Amino acid sequence: MDPNVARILDRLPQTDPLIAAKAIENRIAALADELNARYPDGVSIISVMTGAMPFTADLIRQLTVPVQVSVVVARSYEGTAQRNGELKLRLPPEACAVTGQHVLVVDDILDSGQTLGRLFADIRAMGPASLAGCVLLRKERPDITGRIEMDYVGFDIPDAFVVGYGLDYDGLGRNLPAIYALPGGA
Ligand code: IMP
Ligand code: MG
Repeated sequence: MDPNVARILDRLPQTDPLIAAKAIENRIAALADELNARYPDGVSIISVMTGAMPFTADLIRQLTVPVQVSVVVARSYEGTAQRNGELKLRLPPEACAVTGQHVLVVDDILDSGQTLGRLFADIRAMGPASLAGCVLLRKERPDITGRIEMDYVGFDIPDAFVVGYGLDYDGLGRNLPAIYALPGGA
């Protein structure tokens, strides 16, 4: 645990969040309405760990249709808030029924789209009845062309490094109930 990172995060709750906890809650309720309408026969959710943990937990509790949940572990940011590091994906063989199922991938943020692009290809190869994506945040990345599209998006945000509500800075800050842009962009 880096004490400098901890110190930066410690100060964040005294600043204005980019997205307040109440706004997240309201938006999730609206997304859940759309998902309940789309999947009357149920949905198999694959949640991308670790960032999507709080989002998935709050979202599924607003779903009234039959829901299965499994997780996939993805990691593309080694250490700090840098855009590098190798992408690692692990879809466990016991991942909830995918073949012939309506699958919804839930993630915290669409940034470069690399993680979700790879995951979608892997899941599509397993023959789902349908495949859709839901992210809480979609980062503005005009530099990226051909980025994978998401079917459900909570909020569009500028190209800043954000932390809180599942999103981490060097492993810390996932527990913050609101979302903050790091000062200076990190
Ligand atoms: P990708 O670039 O779309 O593949 O994003 C991969 C992952 O990087 C996301 O699922 C997040 O876990 C993480 N990530 C991207 N942008 C941010 C950010 O601003 N803050 C914290 N994590 C981020
Ligand atoms: Mg993630």
